[in-house]
Amino acid sequence: MQISNLTVRYGAIEAIRDVTFTAMPSRITAVLGANGAGKTTLLRTISGLVQPASGSIVIEGVELIGRATDDIARLGVGHVPEGRGVIAEFTVEENLRLGAMAFDIDLAAGLDEQYQQFPVLGERRKQYASTLSGGERQMLAMARALIAQPRLLLLDEPSLGLAPLVAAELMTTIRELCATKNLSVLLVEQNAKGALRIADDAVVLSVGRVVANGSAAEVASDDQLRQYYLGLVQ
Ligand SMILES: Nc1ncnc2c1ncn2[C@@H]1O[C@H](COP(=O)(O)OP(=O)(O)OP(=O)(O)O)[C@@H](O)[C@H]1O
Ligand SMILES: [Mg+2]
Repeated sequence: MQISNLTVRYGAIEAIRDVTFTAMPSRITAVLGANGAGKTTLLRTISGLVQPASGSIVIEGVELIGRATDDIARLGVGHVPEGRGVIAEFTVEENLRLGAMAFDIDLAAGLDEQYQQFPVLGERRKQYASTLSGGERQMLAMARALIAQPRLLLLDEPSLGLAPLVAAELMTTIRELCATKNLSVLLVEQNAKGALRIADDAVVLSVGRVVANGSAAEVASDDQLRQYYLGLVQ
């Protein structure tokens, strides 16, 4: 996916300002930045939930801007929103069916694949999502996006509220999925340390602007970035 000169405004507020970067297949691109930096807005714009003022978002040669959200999803964009977005009153399996709805896929095979990837979801397929642990709910949110076989996976703060060990396991799962499915992953995180550990590339946003864009290793070793934008102290 290539994002070029993207600008998004909410009234007078410029939440994203002239943002340009690329997310490559089989690579995790971390999108980092403080509260209000524009990370969620960026993902919502890619998904078509927010209309930008200007710019371009191209996936596999197709311009996404101006298209409806369901159209964008069918073009291969899977979005796991902030706060996970599973339906608490539905069972695990009902949530997964919902994720597969409107996509031209074999439902039984899709469910099988997700239960293989996330065995705990298979064990709990009849359980209400409201009764899942935070980590299990995050897995369900990911499985619900993955069942539609996306090419680009947007993850908004997946490790938020998870115990460090659970968050670390989730990061490993994201890493594996990215490699085995040839996915482009856009990983939004405030947990810069955890994200930079598994990411290949990193984009750092500050008040809607890109202040750094490079390999995760470069960003992780830049003392100024660490101190001023990522809240990481030596
Ligand atoms: N629907 C909206 N209407 C008006 N302003 C908004 C709206 N959504 C976000 N904003 C503003 O846009 C800016 C970017 O917000 P956004 O949620 O994208 O940041 P974020 O980087 O995801 O922050 P956080 O780390 O807290 O989740 C903020 O100043 C926010 O107040
Ligand atoms: Mg956010």
